[in-house]
Amino acid sequence: MRHLPTRTTRASGRTVIGALAAGLLCAAGATAPAVADSPTTAAAAAVSPQSDNGLALTPPMGFNNWNSTHCRAEFNEAMVKGIADIFVEKGLKEAGYQYVNLDDCWAKPQRNADGKLEADPVRFPNGIEAVADYVHSKGLKLGIYTSAGTKTCDGTGLPGALGHEYSDAQQFADWGVDYLKYDNCNNQGVDAKKRYTTMRDALQATGRPIVYSICEWGENKPWEWAADVGNLWRTTGDISDSWGSMLSIMKQNLPLAAAAGPGHWNDPDMLEVGNGGMTDTEYRTHFSMWSVMAAPLLIGSDLRKATPETFEILSNQEVIAVDQDPLGKQGTVVSSTGGRWVVAKEMKDGSRVVALFNETGSAQRISTTAKEAGLPEADAYTTRDLWQHTTYNTAGGISATVPAHGTVLLRVAADSKWAAYPCGRGTRPDRQPVGGGRPQRPADDDGHRSGPYACHERLRGSHRPVGLADRGAVADRHRCRAHRPCADHTLAGDASRGHSHRYVRSEAQRPVPVTDRDARAVLGAVPGACGGGAPGRQQLSERSAAALRFQRLGSGREGHQQR
Ligand code: GLA
Repeated sequence: MRHLPTRTTRASGRTVIGALAAGLLCAAGATAPAVADSPTTAAAAAVSPQSDNGLALTPPMGFNNWNSTHCRAEFNEAMVKGIADIFVEKGLKEAGYQYVNLDDCWAKPQRNADGKLEADPVRFPNGIEAVADYVHSKGLKLGIYTSAGTKTCDGTGLPGALGHEYSDAQQFADWGVDYLKYDNCNNQGVDAKKRYTTMRDALQATGRPIVYSICEWGENKPWEWAADVGNLWRTTGDISDSWGSMLSIMKQNLPLAAAAGPGHWNDPDMLEVGNGGMTDTEYRTHFSMWSVMAAPLLIGSDLRKATPETFEILSNQEVIAVDQDPLGKQGTVVSSTGGRWVVAKEMKDGSRVVALFNETGSAQRISTTAKEAGLPEADAYTTRDLWQHTTYNTAGGISATVPAHGTVLLRVAADSKWAAYPCGRGTRPDRQPVGGGRPQRPADDDGHRSGPYACHERLRGSHRPVGLADRGAVADRHRCRAHRPCADHTLAGDASRGHSHRYVRSEAQRPVPVTDRDARAVLGAVPGACGGGAPGRQQLSERSAAALRFQRLGSGREGHQQR
């Protein structure tokens, strides 16, 4: 590896002079400790892979000041406390953001007489422990930064941890630090694996659970060796607040999907959402793609000045759920032609999140299929738009017209219940109540049953007969709805958003008119949806069309797509 990283092309805000100064220091043979300081406790002997430490089982979420402040004076105790307050007040803590992380420039240039690190007395007059106490009092965690070199990266000569690993790790633990970002500057040419492994061992020796973030910018392909060393590792150089930077980093990080998993993540750097250099559409793409890539979600904007749009993006629970899915898969590229990207992420519940991402400067139609996204064959698919917060069904086609630089983010699940609609019960032999008994229909994950069978059971509870005759079905479904709405598919054609055959479960629970023509379109759109062969448009019976006309209430069941 290079003796000193090239700093001039990186948009980190530091001065070239700083980098040169660091280089001179290095060239002049500044003392590079050949070995680390030593473990001070017996625990040091019991080293295990960092990814086994039970931390970062989903990608870390939180805040880091670097992208918004760099080393400017506004990075100080008041800011850090203010961010912690906002995490709580604005519901970000509730949404999963947990770590409040200090980046470079928190330290005094000199270690004290005992060789210990001390906080910059102007920025942090009460010391780091006081900040940790405050952050902890809010139910949050504190992160800190140093470099696996003799100095940190900012160029003003702040102390790094190379050769002081055990003492510095212990210092961090004593202050109550929960997360360490370990940078790569002034590394004196010491082998990266050795430097980062030494700090891992030092952190473990403290006995305190500390998430370990390796920040060597992907220079030594950490995705090939760091799963046993750190909980996350940077895969690229620094992000900056521009479309080009974000795009380039995304493209470097996407091919590394196989390396990511619970406890060990690819880190394409912190979020720029809200910093002003991109449009909100571009920031939604940034947030969408970071989530699909199971990247750490570290907010990089000063939330004290953030717009409502920024909060809306960063707080989108449905997108956060993609990032935080416990299966821990990073999404993979299904296709990318002419700047039209399809990236799919497997989710623990079997669904797939599909990002239709438009790299180009004009609106594009982007299409794929449920099969290409990795879903099993099914009668129909439930599709949840994670930015529009709407749900609809398709027969397997996944497509949207995506604005320039935009991303349509869809969570698609095989819809095993669709076949029960809109023809109602009794249309599929495998779902018929046998001898009037309870239909063998799988319950939802949450144990609920919905749709006609739920109504059926409800009717049983009211001593209604089971095995209702076809001619009574419509009336009974209607009656049932008075107890509890059935999950229905209603048509809400929305050609403007490019969805054809769009069958929306109305969330407002308001009646949606369904015409005979709509009914035929519904039944004709999903081959085999009613069992025993596809009802062609011309084959649609009057009874089925009439039944559909009654299905006018939305289910109102959120989370349906998560089955
Ligand atoms: C490096 C890192 C950045 C930031 C700065 C601080 O450039 O990659 O994320 O921590 O150092 O100086």
